[in-house]
Amino acid sequence: MENPLQGLRKKTHSSLSGLSEFLFGAPYYPEHWDEDDMAQDPKRMREAGFNVARMAEFAWDRMEPQEGTYDFSFFDDHIDRIAQEGIKTILCTPTAAPPRWMTVKYPEILRAREDGVRLQHGSRQHACHSSSVFREFSQKITQAMADHYRGNENVIGWQTDNEFFCHFRECHCPNCQEAFKVYLENKYGTIDELNRRWGTSFWSLTFSAFSEIETPKQMCPTHVNPSQHLDYLLFLSKEVISFQREQVNILRAANSDWFVFHNGIFMGIDYREFAEDLDFMAVDVYPKFSKVKDRRFNADWTLDMTRSFSGNFIVPELQSGPGGQGNSFHDNPLPGEMRLYAYQCIARGADGILHFRWRTCRFGAEEFWCGILDHDNIPRRRFTEVCQEGKEFRAIGDQILRTSLFPEIGILADSGIAEMVGRTNGCGLPGMNSGTWCWLTAWSERNYHVGLVHPDDDLSGFRVLVLPSWEIVSDTIAKRLEYFVDKGGTLIVTGRSGIKNEDNHVIKETAPGNLRGITGSSIYESSRVNDPEEHPNGLDFGDFVLDQDFWTELIESDGAETIATWTQGHLKGRPAAVVNKRGKGKCFYIGTFVQEVEARKLVSYFANALELDPMVSDLSSGVHVSRRDCSDYGLWFVLNHNKSATPVSGLPSGEVLIDDRTGGELPGFGVMVIKENYRNRV
Ligand code: GAL
Ligand code: ZN
Repeated sequence: MENPLQGLRKKTHSSLSGLSEFLFGAPYYPEHWDEDDMAQDPKRMREAGFNVARMAEFAWDRMEPQEGTYDFSFFDDHIDRIAQEGIKTILCTPTAAPPRWMTVKYPEILRAREDGVRLQHGSRQHACHSSSVFREFSQKITQAMADHYRGNENVIGWQTDNEFFCHFRECHCPNCQEAFKVYLENKYGTIDELNRRWGTSFWSLTFSAFSEIETPKQMCPTHVNPSQHLDYLLFLSKEVISFQREQVNILRAANSDWFVFHNGIFMGIDYREFAEDLDFMAVDVYPKFSKVKDRRFNADWTLDMTRSFSGNFIVPELQSGPGGQGNSFHDNPLPGEMRLYAYQCIARGADGILHFRWRTCRFGAEEFWCGILDHDNIPRRRFTEVCQEGKEFRAIGDQILRTSLFPEIGILADSGIAEMVGRTNGCGLPGMNSGTWCWLTAWSERNYHVGLVHPDDDLSGFRVLVLPSWEIVSDTIAKRLEYFVDKGGTLIVTGRSGIKNEDNHVIKETAPGNLRGITGSSIYESSRVNDPEEHPNGLDFGDFVLDQDFWTELIESDGAETIATWTQGHLKGRPAAVVNKRGKGKCFYIGTFVQEVEARKLVSYFANALELDPMVSDLSSGVHVSRRDCSDYGLWFVLNHNKSATPVSGLPSGEVLIDDRTGGELPGFGVMVIKENYRNRV
């Protein structure tokens, strides 16, 4: 019989990338340089241990200088030059930067803001994914590139576009108005059905025909219909998915050996659906965008989110110098820091690292966005550090590729409808991403084997799942979670879960809706805590109290046992958190939002209550472990995120593949990789 906990999609969070070689290289933009600058590039790339460079990303004007006239000779030459040094090429569809002739002749391809202002052609990502004219050009350039390169053995794979939704995700242009109507007509069939499911009887919003509908404009004059807003977000996601799919189909038809990926990740795209068209996902990582304190965990969250979409991924852009743009300029990564970032990515599932970018450009909006080589083209410290990475990845890359992560604690995460619902009418409460971040961080800073996972994924390997305030839980997901608990798993659900349906309406049933059975609870009353000084409250677990400055829920038990009560006011002494035993497992319900401080306390509580062990105990603060497994061995990544030397002990025994230790200490930003053999395990 089929296992109901098996993933509902092709790929799981633990899928391998399928790459035959660990990728190491950099995005390369030969169109920015003269011959003199580039003379040493191929040799230096080889010296750095590269096996790949990414090209042609924004170079549409170079490849199609006039409408319908294609010329790939420039890139042919550079692909060839680096190939002579054994370096392969990843090409990009250049559609994030449509050329000038196109926007001059077809201005209707430009996106529009909600106030109707057309975006100008002055930077990038200015074209609308719903424009049939733009889509045609996108397919034509993709087809021309695919035809030209289908037999070129030095081209091994493709990136679609660049960072969809990085700068601009909404579009309100006439193309989108039309496409939105078509999307709605396909979804609802009749205008009556749309009226019902959008709840247009509220504020006299009833439509009499699809032609009357527009994309929703926020606060013009005030809050828009949340059902319409949700549909608009789903529509934007669908448009970008189908835009990409057109390119992927062309590339696959031209050469089925090519791998295809996209470099994300930005909210607003349902990446579980998006990634089904790709071989693997990819994510660009610039840790220096984050505040110092959170750098490690913000990167971990982004990496793990990416992994949750389709398993192992690559990092086509990893910070390799201080980024400077507009009003900001990062710190220069300290010695060893870039390499630590690279291992951090690998530790969370990366099967390839490309450092952004090969050389710092001397002009353009990113003239201060520093790469491996500086403006003067002299190799210095950052180049030397990259060379070290190259050497190491050559040595251990094959062993990395066979492994992926199999966490035992899963934080349920989504970039699709569940995340979007929170953005339509979030009431200023912490969204689900904040919940996933807090739980992931709290478990992972104590070195538990934790990861983000979508509830439609393969859930069979998890012991514990956390559902952090998912306002909308489909019946399918609710059933899977029930099955998970019945079979012996532990589920932890936090406040305000299960209160909405897929139309973005609040449900008729008492909260938590379709989770009432599994939680053995219903919510009697709830409140936002806007002024915690005036109305303090907390959840008293006996041994500790969780102060609450967001939200309180009074839980009525329907079989669940109380584990914490409220400390104050009219809720005092009444249930704030419960546990419901079901089948072979149990489900905890915590009647509030869980943020950073609470998550830390709850991790201690659950680790104790559920007898969970960290992967390694007693590691010094700032030293982090992660493990990738295959049936034969596990790879332990031990990373010192501290600037200074830190003692390490209690590590698993095995073959030490990378070892920065001196004495019993890892130097600042030092790394160890240990291979634990499972073959001879009893
Ligand atoms: C990324 C983008 C790159 C470059 C980099 C530095 O988001 O993909 O093309 O712009 O940031 O700003
Ligand atoms: Zn548009």
